[in-house]
Amino acid sequence: MCGGRPTPYNVNMSLADAGPTGDPHRRKAATVVSDTRRTDAEPTPKAASAGRTDRDIFRLAPTMDATVLDAIAARLEFRATDDGYVALSQAYLGRLPLSDTHRILALGCGTGVEVRALRRFAGPGTAIVGLDHSPALIETARRRTADEGLSDNVTYEIGDAHQLAYGAGAFDVVTLHTLASHADDPLRLLREAGRVVRPGGTVAIFDGDYASLTFGCPDPTLARTVEDKLMQLLVANPRVMRDMPRLLGQAGLRLVEADGVVYANIGASRFWLSAAESYGELLERSGLLPPEDVQRWRAFQTRSDQDGSFFAASNYYTYLAQGPT
Ligand SMILES: C[S@@+](CC[C@H](N)C(=O)[O-])C[C@H]1O[C@@H](n2cnc3c(N)ncnc32)[C@H](O)[C@@H]1O
Repeated sequence: MCGGRPTPYNVNMSLADAGPTGDPHRRKAATVVSDTRRTDAEPTPKAASAGRTDRDIFRLAPTMDATVLDAIAARLEFRATDDGYVALSQAYLGRLPLSDTHRILALGCGTGVEVRALRRFAGPGTAIVGLDHSPALIETARRRTADEGLSDNVTYEIGDAHQLAYGAGAFDVVTLHTLASHADDPLRLLREAGRVVRPGGTVAIFDGDYASLTFGCPDPTLARTVEDKLMQLLVANPRVMRDMPRLLGQAGLRLVEADGVVYANIGASRFWLSAAESYGELLERSGLLPPEDVQRWRAFQTRSDQDGSFFAASNYYTYLAQGPT
């Protein structure tokens, strides 16, 4: 190594063995991520009453304040600038039957990252609809898509992916791109995707197996606590991609192909360090654990990136399934 920082290793390995009900749409707006000094540091009444303990900021996006929504938008757009993540998350686009596709529905599209990627991949005659339950994220998606000159034949709509306003068989392809892990009810989501895809059409699901997400940390108790709380704050269904083969069957969809990769940053980091910074900041304000614990953990992540001893990784899976015939 020729001085300075060590080379980051972005490991993107194939794995041989691929392994609730709070409703934010019917709730008055409330800030869920909160400062410990505030009185609303408890889980939201609706989430708690529905027996859920997560406070997934994506599941609850319609109720989030501007600070949280800005952090979400920044992180989603940052992911789209990371070559390793883009390669693994968009690999399936090349396997979609796009030459036969007239209408694509991107559920939980956030700021429109996969909609813009699909616009670049698909022919100009293919209509693409991006849907998200956050009006603020949809507004950002519209603006960014226009700024990049990709608005032709693209429509953005606000809605709940569990209850779509489209008729049966209205789309040739439906994507759930990092949505299932954040949904109220992944099975209902898949059933709805199966309803609106045409017979024999494709439902594509890409997501993190966030139960596998881990960061290096010399204090194992602190590591486990921060990782548990990060899941509580960020991921409603951290194991859903392990359940996907069963859920697809229950939703009447036929599994056609699947693959898994581990995305690791070892030595130095861009992707996972940025996650530790942006989500660490939200965690610090969340009241889920003492802010000084998060600060200690974040300081270690920064230091380990600087001295070349960084480690963080998560598995990701892609499933392509066929709609009911
Ligand atoms: C992790 S983000 C992914 C955004 C985008 N697909 C991407 O990969 O950049 C998850 C998105 O799902 C949206 N979402 C969560 N539950 C939803 C629901 N029930 N209906 C519609 N959108 C939902 C959130 O608002 C958020 O934008």
